[in-house]
Amino acid sequence: MTGEGRSLGARVLVVGSGIAGLTYALKVAESTDVLVVTKKSRADSNTNWARGGIAAGIGGDDSPDLHLEDTLKAGDGLCHRDRVDLLVREGPARVAELVEWGARFHREDGQLSLGREGGHSRRRIVRAGDRTGREIERALLDAVGRHPRIQVAQHLFVADLVVDRSGRCRGVLAVDPRGNRVTLEGAVTLLASGGAGQVYQHTTNPLIATGDGVAMAYRAGAAVANMEFVQFHPTALYPTEDPAFLITEAIRGEGAVLRRRDGSLLLAGGEGSLAPRDVVARAIHRDLLESGESHVILDISRIPKETMEVRFPGAVEGCLARGVDLFRTGIPVVPAAHYFCGGVVTDAQGRTTVPGLYASGEVAFTGVHGANRLASNSLLEAVVFSHRAAGATVTEVAAPGLDTSPDPDTLADSDTSADPIPFPPDHRSAPGFEAGNFPPRATETQEMDRIPELRRRLRHLMWTDVGIVRSDAGLRRAEGEISALRDRVQREAGHSVAALELQNLLQVAALIVRSARMRRESRGLHFNVDHPERDDRRFAGDTILRKGGGAPG
Ligand code: SIN
Repeated sequence: MTGEGRSLGARVLVVGSGIAGLTYALKVAESTDVLVVTKKSRADSNTNWARGGIAAGIGGDDSPDLHLEDTLKAGDGLCHRDRVDLLVREGPARVAELVEWGARFHREDGQLSLGREGGHSRRRIVRAGDRTGREIERALLDAVGRHPRIQVAQHLFVADLVVDRSGRCRGVLAVDPRGNRVTLEGAVTLLASGGAGQVYQHTTNPLIATGDGVAMAYRAGAAVANMEFVQFHPTALYPTEDPAFLITEAIRGEGAVLRRRDGSLLLAGGEGSLAPRDVVARAIHRDLLESGESHVILDISRIPKETMEVRFPGAVEGCLARGVDLFRTGIPVVPAAHYFCGGVVTDAQGRTTVPGLYASGEVAFTGVHGANRLASNSLLEAVVFSHRAAGATVTEVAAPGLDTSPDPDTLADSDTSADPIPFPPDHRSAPGFEAGNFPPRATETQEMDRIPELRRRLRHLMWTDVGIVRSDAGLRRAEGEISALRDRVQREAGHSVAALELQNLLQVAALIVRSARMRRESRGLHFNVDHPERDDRRFAGDTILRKGGGAPG
């Protein structure tokens, strides 16, 4: 048998190597073997790109109750209060655990030094300069590397979930770098595959953020929710790169303000430049449309140069490396897509609606963000709900009667030759699994040539018609064009990993547009000029989509 159809496995599978996946793995591995699968190298994750920090109501003048209040306020009526309650009360213990795992956060006089970001009424952002995600990822990867029960398989693209005839998730189907298909079996699978920022032309998310987790969970029949709520970060460095260079909001927390290029203040009154992100991003968007300018300026003149250099070395070095003399001119910025508040619906233990499938991190919908995520609540959500998911997983895997291993009598032969994956292949593929759209091998380079162009078209369309400000006509147009693009991709794009990523992006785009069309109001991050008011009478609930329920196919 060739490499095609090989099967590898572990008791618990984790898709994604960011903070959600790794903290879950470290906890589950206390009881059972874990295999973490990542489509690039182990350090490639959205977490690595998180600059701001992790929010925790631990300051002397702060409390979980105040953190809860701020989170609910930002969420604009859609947060699930019970879940936010878990987030803010369990958060501090989870942050302490990160310290135990070796994360080195910024301290002053021995205490964690707390920063402030938009929408927070207190200083409560635990940080490592403006490279917090990178520091957390470093510490977690070190801890994972030392753990004898955790293996990490890199450069394996997970193409689909494997769901048996009873509807239970039994693992995943993956493609290795040579195009070989690999079945990975798991008694439980955690999706921790991050976000989908690459669906937009301008995004702070890395190239890997193609929404694979939401797309494959939806294909497998899982419920997804609130896909219309896409957060645009107000301050990406202009001109934008791909991905855009994020200028952390914590700089505004230290006193920087947004100005038009003529020097006038952009957001006067109220919370000013520290208003929640949806407000700030929309203000910049509107101003640039009206003025015809390309960007606004983040004026950092109120912050001492040394403070900038110590607290925000990433921003300082990033600007200087790109020829931006920030101490003289300020920082040119524009909004860029940043974070998905919606995702795969989970309960308080991280369980999705598909038995055996859990989700955590940006891919998940836990209900804590509502219509607009409060800054720096996402890393917190990941650690709090991964901890809960790990507890539930350990109980589930230990439960008598759970069939956690493939039946050796009915398994196909496995292939142990020429194994390119850095862990021993000792498993086989079980029969009866249904692979949603598992691909044949990719060979046709001509087909692959079209993919970048199709991906660019989709991203431009989403930016223009499904961006910071939406309209009924724009959403209708986007729906039609996405459907045409999907037909074209099915016909022309082949079955390479790049083509599968594009299909996932199109799936996510269709879900965003469908959800945005259903929500005929404006709330939080979703603003539609044809329905500019919040309508609690009709839209005070989540937008839930499920395959076969009249949603995109
Ligand atoms: C930032 O540093 O501005 C980003 C933090 C976040 O997205 O929560």
